[in-house]
Amino acid sequence: MTSQTRARAAIILAAGQGTRMKSPLPKVLHPVGGRAMLDHAIDAAQALGCQRIVVVVGVHSPEVRAHVVARLGEDAIAVQDPPLGTGHAVRAAEQALNGFDGEVVVTYGDVPLLKAADIEPVFNADGVTVIGFEARDPGAYGRLILEGDALLAITEAKEASPEVLAVTACNSGVMAAPAALLFSLLGQVRNDNGKGEYYLTDVVALARQAGHPTRAVFAPEDSVMGVNAQGELAQAEALFQKVQRETFLAAGVTMTAPETVHFAWDTQVGGGTVIEPFVVFGPGAVIEGAARIRSFSHIEGARVGSGAEVGPYARLRPGADLAEGVKIGNFVEVKNVALAKGAKANHLAYLGDGTVGAGANIGAGTIFCNYDGFNKARTQVGDGAFVGSNSSLVAPVRIGAGALIASGSVITEDVPADALAFGRARQTVKPEAAAAFRVEARARKEAAKAAQTQNETSK
Ligand code: UD1
Ligand code: CA
Repeated sequence: MTSQTRARAAIILAAGQGTRMKSPLPKVLHPVGGRAMLDHAIDAAQALGCQRIVVVVGVHSPEVRAHVVARLGEDAIAVQDPPLGTGHAVRAAEQALNGFDGEVVVTYGDVPLLKAADIEPVFNADGVTVIGFEARDPGAYGRLILEGDALLAITEAKEASPEVLAVTACNSGVMAAPAALLFSLLGQVRNDNGKGEYYLTDVVALARQAGHPTRAVFAPEDSVMGVNAQGELAQAEALFQKVQRETFLAAGVTMTAPETVHFAWDTQVGGGTVIEPFVVFGPGAVIEGAARIRSFSHIEGARVGSGAEVGPYARLRPGADLAEGVKIGNFVEVKNVALAKGAKANHLAYLGDGTVGAGANIGAGTIFCNYDGFNKARTQVGDGAFVGSNSSLVAPVRIGAGALIASGSVITEDVPADALAFGRARQTVKPEAAAAFRVEARARKEAAKAAQTQNETSK
């Protein structure tokens, strides 16, 4: 990021219980755009150039701890037990930051839409800086008591007079200060207030009393929204999707019904691509320019080359790699298969674990039998091969370039280049046998009926 002059650290608060989510998954691990909210917060801290990142976790969610350790290591963990307020939570991180003497920013694991660019203005200051926002409904937010540019104090709603409650400039919770100043002020914070908690927000007035500059910078309300319940998670997701759609439209992607297309946090789509209504992208999708993604397709962990066409009703799973001009049609599932230029699988197929050569044609109903219940194996189809409809290719197996597989074959052995393989029973034809069968069957049916009537009249 721009103009970084001092070392930076982030303390991300994630010790809340999140009970209002009513979910067995810890709140901060709920995804927005297919990525855990906590990871969005860590992404922002990393994009800000924070050399130390500490996540404050509670003892009640070992999954959160494990998630942080997997991404950032043990050094990134601070435990707050029990949770006694936001000020207490930040103090819990002091030891983990031991020795750090740059600027510290406090952010939140449940504020997924806040971007590095929104946070950047809090840095390069001597005193305490908070991110404020103009609240449509100030409700329970802390109120910013401003005098011109100076922030005199933050008053929590619980302690606010009616005049202060009328203030619409609110505290997002994000705050930055030099590490030494922050922790020395936190040492003076008391808990004699409406909630009996140690409020982080009290450091503003304390800083001011000690003669340090205190100020607020403003961010859009939508960026600072916190998630406490499922309704807010859905709202955050909707805002996230709106931004993604606008970004792709601006980048030259055509969408006739963008409101029905769902992107993941890392979806990449090249300009000139057309995305029809009702397409869902999971994480890890890369769509190169001028592809066409048709309705009701689901794409995750896959690359779609330029000029390729996918769907309608296609499913691309991780490792699907479609070169230029590949066609994947309706009800085709592709997993961990690379298809070379111009290859086609137009209808009703499962392609799992393998490769398909340039210009090869995979017929309707083809299955790559990649799993025997224990191990996975690969199917390799050569350039220009033609696999007839309803064939099962039992992996491991190789179909040579230009080979032809007869429809309905079960192929268990390799087929050399340009060979024709049949893997099915030879057809038998018995002339007039169907007509003879009908005469005999009808006679049997009538005999049974006659026997039944005889039986009833003799009762
Ligand atoms: C806090 C601010 C308020 C601000 C609001 C924005 C304080 C005292 N108040 O209020 O000014 O407008 O956020 O949403 O800071 N947490 C911990 N440990 C704790 C307590 C909280 O980790 O002991 C975490 C929670 O998980 C949550 C965040 O800190 O993510 C905010 O805590 P919360 O209790 O919701 O603060 P608010 O009362 O909403
Ligand atoms: Ca809150």
